[in-house]
Amino acid sequence: MLPTVNFTETAAYKYLADHFIDINDKNLKQLFAEDEKRFEKFSVIFEDILLDYSKNRINDETIALLLQLAKECKLDEAIKAMFSGDKINQTEDRAVLHIALRNQSNSPILADGVNIMDDVNAVLAKMEKFSEQIISGAWKGYTGKAITDVVNIGIGGSDLGPVMVTEALKAYKNHLTMHFVSNIDGTHMAEALKVVDPETTLFIIASKTFTTQETLTNANTAKDWFLSKGGKQEDVAKHFAALSTNAKDVSAFGIDTENMFGFWDWVGGRYSLWSAIGLPIALSVGFDNFKQLLEGAHAADQHFENTPFESNIPVILGLLGVWYINFFDAETQAILPYDQYMHRFAAYFQQGDMESNGKHVDRNGEEVTYETGPIIWGEPGTNGQHAFYQLIHQGTRLIPCDFIAPAQSLNPIGEHHPILLSNFFAQTEALMNGKTEEQVVAELQKDGKTDEEIKKLAPFKIFEGNRPTNSILLKKVTPRSLGTLIAIYEHKIFVQGIIWNIFSFDQWGVELGKQLAKSILPELKGDEPVSSHDGSTNGLINQYKSWR
Ligand code: F6P
Repeated sequence: MLPTVNFTETAAYKYLADHFIDINDKNLKQLFAEDEKRFEKFSVIFEDILLDYSKNRINDETIALLLQLAKECKLDEAIKAMFSGDKINQTEDRAVLHIALRNQSNSPILADGVNIMDDVNAVLAKMEKFSEQIISGAWKGYTGKAITDVVNIGIGGSDLGPVMVTEALKAYKNHLTMHFVSNIDGTHMAEALKVVDPETTLFIIASKTFTTQETLTNANTAKDWFLSKGGKQEDVAKHFAALSTNAKDVSAFGIDTENMFGFWDWVGGRYSLWSAIGLPIALSVGFDNFKQLLEGAHAADQHFENTPFESNIPVILGLLGVWYINFFDAETQAILPYDQYMHRFAAYFQQGDMESNGKHVDRNGEEVTYETGPIIWGEPGTNGQHAFYQLIHQGTRLIPCDFIAPAQSLNPIGEHHPILLSNFFAQTEALMNGKTEEQVVAELQKDGKTDEEIKKLAPFKIFEGNRPTNSILLKKVTPRSLGTLIAIYEHKIFVQGIIWNIFSFDQWGVELGKQLAKSILPELKGDEPVSSHDGSTNGLINQYKSWR
């Protein structure tokens, strides 16, 4: 059982509320001027990752109080409960053990009193064998040709993780061409089928439940296409594999359970890339690299489990988020990777964070009286700079940003990487320092503007600054460092869920949408107008019927 402390009733919260008034009056430039040791104090290096959180609106007292908050909310107990396999996903009566999937030290981890490591290792061994057969060409399609293309069919956690990681590790990939089809919009499947050959394509049906409408519809379309292109029913086993916890429905779909890679109900969909759901990753970059990814995540798990909170990266990131969301009323958080390969990183954590902490009921079943999960968004730098950074710099909202960049490029061409990194450094500096009136006036004078012109233009050119950022500098994007980084963000989400006293591992809100769509589908058949909904929904459905 998780603790059920209302964080707004802790002593730390009350002190933080008072302390906020002081800090809110100070700007980051002042805080740096007051304490020349800020960088040393407010940065942590773990493995090949440096977190610099000194450009946040904090001082020693803020950190001390946030750490006290974590203590009062019994974060240490909660971490122990997760790592020891307690059923902390209480509304679904499940343990939360994605950490077991990457437990490369193989120490026993218990679920329902049983060591699950044998099962985890057995699936990993099966994935290793299968991926080696596909990559080496030993696995043949129905006409005796090796596999060249892999189409992963899944959605949400059965898609976003593999997509994000295969993109982030593209520099490590082999000859297989990966395709990901997630959307029920037939266009997604149609476009994939245009470019693959049935004789050399492997379809992977990835669905934890094997009941998700989008995935099963897409899977059936893929199977029909395969059969229409010359494949026979008995050839399906050579071209279709399933990643699921539901052997019965996999078998009913017509996939040989020999080709099924299992996982368990203690793996949440959005935490499943480390499980059989990661098979496309192993296929794309090879099993050794997939193992490195797991090792990196395992290192982050150990760091999270064993490091004192004051230098524990997920704890610090989580508490800083709480500071902005609950005291500064920040509504969103931007994740900004300065690495083109990581272009899906923010999208991945949109599900990771928003599906986990988008909750308004606390662990006692009571409506919360405070804000919980933020809106997560972001795009790679420098593209984002030319799109939405204006609002971060000069808009009315406070948007805490995580800037992420590798020190070493995987494609060191000319001056590209130093230019990229100079933008990375410059942006957090500019967000912190802004541009004062004096600077603006001096610049305009230098440009030869008259006093009157300067008076008119200056207000638009002044940047208040004082915008908080974290900088995460990686030595290089490798399977290991990526694994560490992802696990750090996962645990940050956990920390925030514990402080907010919510359940981070269910997603009842998404289930509602699934039910509603299923009930409308039969009404779209036939031409009779519908009248069973509200006026707007009836109007939309009836217009659709007249236009289709
Ligand atoms: O979107 C809701 C959800 O249940 C996610 O949590 C999950 O990742 C996704 O649907 C896909 O579910 P499944 O893997 O069971 O097809």
